[in-house]
Amino acid sequence: MSSRPFINTKARISLTRNLPKPNMYVRMLEGEFAPWAFNEERAPLFRGLWREQVFKVAADHPLDLEIGTGNGYFFAHRAKARPERCLVGIELKFKPLIQSIRRAVRDGAENARIARYDAWAVEELFAPGELDDVFIHFPDPWEKKRQLKHRLIDDEFIEVVHGLQKPGSVIDFKTDSLDYFEWAVERFRRSPYEIVAETRDLHSSEWAARNFVTHFEKLWTSKGIKINYALLRRS
Ligand SMILES: C[S@@+](CC[C@H](N)C(=O)[O-])C[C@H]1O[C@@H](n2cnc3c(N)ncnc32)[C@H](O)[C@@H]1O
Repeated sequence: MSSRPFINTKARISLTRNLPKPNMYVRMLEGEFAPWAFNEERAPLFRGLWREQVFKVAADHPLDLEIGTGNGYFFAHRAKARPERCLVGIELKFKPLIQSIRRAVRDGAENARIARYDAWAVEELFAPGELDDVFIHFPDPWEKKRQLKHRLIDDEFIEVVHGLQKPGSVIDFKTDSLDYFEWAVERFRRSPYEIVAETRDLHSSEWAARNFVTHFEKLWTSKGIKINYALLRRS
């Protein structure tokens, strides 16, 4: 039995169609970007079917996920840089959601889609073993003691993502919050994942050369804050 505060997205976020005053980003999700962007009612219809029905690719085609795309610099970069892989983004908020998919589509990427969805309910979007690599960059840190329960990385979430990923795939995790990083690494260590990389100063590490600096990463780095990074391989 799940101990999560919310397991059903519709219980936590309002339905797009019920918004009293849809702003321009809401209208774009339902209109101009509907071929690439899925609201919280459409997205789960493709659970287990993303390759076949959305991307129209073979059953063994790589399918990656970014959780919390923000304004989508990494999302668009990744889609463009790896056209041989498909990429789905999950984002709660309308503005960053549209910024992300618009950036990818304008860059000419045909392999990117985005869903307005709550990452806490990611298992409603994907079937067991449907995903390859998962990117989680700068999730909300929830640093106060009473907020810790809101942290996305917890034992149950790791177990859920493990069940959705194919063997040999990875989780790519970055955060500016050292406290959150230590919390996450503690949980990664007791999970079935192998920790392939672990650094508390990504930009001075051997992993810097392959790193793409996200929007939030740029903000924190400009303030002298070091970036924490872990790469986990699914057994
Ligand atoms: C701090 S930003 C990081 C954005 C981006 N990854 C980057 O590195 O620039 C976190 C993003 O995650 C989104 N987010 C927070 N909680 C989420 C959840 N439960 N499900 C999906 N997205 C979420 C927020 O709306 C926000 O855009």
